[in-house]
Amino acid sequence: MEISQDSQVLKSLESLGQFVGATPLFEVQHLSPKPSVKIFAKMEWMQFGGSVKTRPAYNIIKGALKSGELGNGKTLLDASSGNTALAYATIGARLGIPVTICLPENASWERKKLLKGLGVNIVYTSKFGSSDESEAKAEEMYRNDPDKYFLANQYGNENNWMSHYQGTGPEIYGALGDQITHFVTGLGTTGSFTGITKYLKEQKPDIKAIGLQPDGALHGLEGWKDMETAKVPGIYDKAVVDEIKHVDTYDAYDLIKETARREGLLLSPSSAANLKGAIDVANEIDSGVVVTLFPDNAEKYSEIIKSLF
Ligand SMILES: Cc1ncc(COP(=O)(O)O)c(C=O)c1O
Repeated sequence: MEISQDSQVLKSLESLGQFVGATPLFEVQHLSPKPSVKIFAKMEWMQFGGSVKTRPAYNIIKGALKSGELGNGKTLLDASSGNTALAYATIGARLGIPVTICLPENASWERKKLLKGLGVNIVYTSKFGSSDESEAKAEEMYRNDPDKYFLANQYGNENNWMSHYQGTGPEIYGALGDQITHFVTGLGTTGSFTGITKYLKEQKPDIKAIGLQPDGALHGLEGWKDMETAKVPGIYDKAVVDEIKHVDTYDAYDLIKETARREGLLLSPSSAANLKGAIDVANEIDSGVVVTLFPDNAEKYSEIIKSLF
């Protein structure tokens, strides 16, 4: 029997599965404010494509190949300013799936170069319109040519949060079990917060889920959305949020330096902001186990690193 081109692509995708998930948990030792509270961070950058978006991109592509929405030469189309684009790009390059990304023109030069190097077709949107304008552009391109594109729609695609519900959540609970008292992470598409929180609360309903937000619409925490001013993602499930805390960009940047020196990790701004949120929670409780994520490391943020060290 002849094997179709699309089932070969699916096989190739499955062979990448070994590089997706199963990330280690890092125990923050020196920056934890008190011995009675432990802080753990899931090192999500240790995957193919290098970030927290590997799992959603993989799951979105897998779902679309299985349903037939992708394959047969169709182009994957989405809006992203960073990590999701890189995750689609790396998986797409390996599988021979064309990728088109709508990107604000003020994205860092490293992003643009990396995406181009991976063969992505970039459609620039205005630097004033943020990711909302890129999202609208991707929708318009899809409406104009639905046969050419699969619109991946990371902000509304259930396979985004499901990847964390089926992967990251069980891995965290499998490692730490009922000791976990708090889960804290920043809100972007909200896929990681929603998926992990839903899974953890099903195992232990009294775990407190704290969503982190920037302290204003103009912030330097790449990957985070300010829900007060931005378009709220379709997959955001407010019902699972126990509390919202705000993190100041400059506090997060200061913590990048401190974490490098005291924990030996070079964190990205949003990873440092997650750690700041976890430390703030740890300061408010007498004892417990606080879990957060490190979405990516400092490698793609050379301008920030130059200004810090
Ligand atoms: C660096 C970084 N941090 C945090 C997030 C937020 O994750 P989520 O989209 O799961 O809310 C993202 C998402 O793109 C990201 O790239």
